[in-house]
Amino acid sequence: MDKFVMVIFGASGDLTKRKLMPALYSLFREKRLKGDFNILGTARTEYSDEGYATYILQELKEFLKAEEQDERTMTDFVGHLRYLPLDPSQEDHYPALKKRLVELCGTEQPDNLLFYLATPPSLYGVVPLHLKAVGLNTPHARIIVEKPFGYDLESAQKLNQIYGSVFEERQVYRIDHFLGKETAQNMLALRFANGVFEPLWNRNYIDYVEVTAVENLGIEQRGGYYDTSGALRDMVQNHLIQLVALTAMEPPAVFNADSFRNEVLKVYESLTPLTEEDLNEHIVRGQYTASEHRKGYREEKGVAADSRTETYIAMKLGISNWRWAGVPFYIRTGKQMPTKVTEVVVHFRQTPHQMFHAIGGGEPGANSLVIRIQPNEGSVLKIGMKMPGAGFEVKQVSLDFTYDQLGGVPSGDAYARLIDDCIQGDPTLFTRGDAVEASWRFFTPVLKYWKEHPDTALYGYPAGTWGPKESEAMMHEHGAEWTNPCKNLTNTDQYCEL
Ligand SMILES: NC(=O)c1ccc[n+]([C@@H]2O[C@H](COP(=O)([O-])OP(=O)(O)OC[C@H]3O[C@@H](n4cnc5c(N)ncnc54)[C@H](OP(=O)(O)O)[C@@H]3O)[C@@H](O)[C@H]2O)c1
Repeated sequence: MDKFVMVIFGASGDLTKRKLMPALYSLFREKRLKGDFNILGTARTEYSDEGYATYILQELKEFLKAEEQDERTMTDFVGHLRYLPLDPSQEDHYPALKKRLVELCGTEQPDNLLFYLATPPSLYGVVPLHLKAVGLNTPHARIIVEKPFGYDLESAQKLNQIYGSVFEERQVYRIDHFLGKETAQNMLALRFANGVFEPLWNRNYIDYVEVTAVENLGIEQRGGYYDTSGALRDMVQNHLIQLVALTAMEPPAVFNADSFRNEVLKVYESLTPLTEEDLNEHIVRGQYTASEHRKGYREEKGVAADSRTETYIAMKLGISNWRWAGVPFYIRTGKQMPTKVTEVVVHFRQTPHQMFHAIGGGEPGANSLVIRIQPNEGSVLKIGMKMPGAGFEVKQVSLDFTYDQLGGVPSGDAYARLIDDCIQGDPTLFTRGDAVEASWRFFTPVLKYWKEHPDTALYGYPAGTWGPKESEAMMHEHGAEWTNPCKNLTNTDQYCEL
């Protein structure tokens, strides 16, 4: 095989310095990237090869953990970097890209290429066409496309058509970094490598499921982007729904890319279509307002003063199949929450008859299984135990496991894992074109409804709180409360600012 070259579009941007370069460096350090390879950065900003290497070296020092920094390895790594000033929107800049790749690879038709699209999403449809114009869509080339892949069903379909006209589906890697996380993958091991859960994992034993992915930060410097996107497009349509799929999917017959992704698709296709009543009553939109130490969303840079973009969303979803009929999936995501956490909580049904009391009275709580994706990766099974001493009071205790207990094996970086998979040609953990469309097919009516009904309620919530109180009402209908993630695992208080 020819020399490997990875071309990054958007190489002067935030994602490249914060995520891609640290991930590539870690692959290099672990000798997953070795031999004679190059990483060719491209963007409109002018750098020389040396200037770019110096810039990335500085950024690595900022974004790598101290224990990952090794002066010599970092210097060796940036020795593989090259740079070409290029405006990715301009077709006439691509012959220079081809020429540079021919020089780097020492062959007239470089083929062992990986393109990474880390530009603004408006360029995702343009770059592949320009690559095709200069014949860089070769049989072994692969392309990783960042999120968001489209902003509704129609735009996602258009993008898929463009990619389909340039590459084969096996060459297109739509990245969702949630799936690169160890604990997201561990959900599959937990479900499909442990016989104990299999008989229970259905409507007969599961009462409801919660999926939470919240952050304690605002929108940082991304106001311009976020104000045209909102939480539904930014988090729900891709990340949250992936977690729903991991929780709800049927076991694939074998663990390979097609079987796994077929099962994900089936979950998306089984989501119960939302009725007008659902759109009104089972979706709660929120936007953070100023609190003592934090700005309100409308005061953020790049955000319209009268913006009605949602920074919080909670939804009740149904899955219309035999396994899940009647089991609600409550999902929520938000900015400026009390903590940063992503977790799935599976709530089992209460025992049919209770003869014991919980401490302080009432029935002991039902069992639940918490699968913590980040931080403090792990899982907890909550079970009732008798309190020592006289009487018979039952208390919920946690059987917990955290990833730290696996003997110091670091849980790898999601981007490193996914880039490595792509280099190895394994698309399992990337989203397939039909799944992106199925997800947009489900959520686009929500966006359409909001557009047609601009007065749809948007509730304020003070920055640093758990979102609008109206989302509590949605849970109360089920006789439940949202789980407070700060109380789920030991050692999590440090992440909570309650
Ligand atoms: N940052 C993150 O943590 C993150 C996370 C997930 C997904 N993403 C996605 O990754 C992509 C990149 O994000 P980012 O945060 O790195 O964005 P960014 O910092 O705004 O910049 C991306 C790059 O695109 C180039 N660029 C900007 N405007 C351009 C234009 N009009 N025409 C041509 N090139 C342009 C910039 O370089 P020049 O100005 O030098 O050309 C820069 O290198 C986005 O699509 C984003 O949605 C980012």
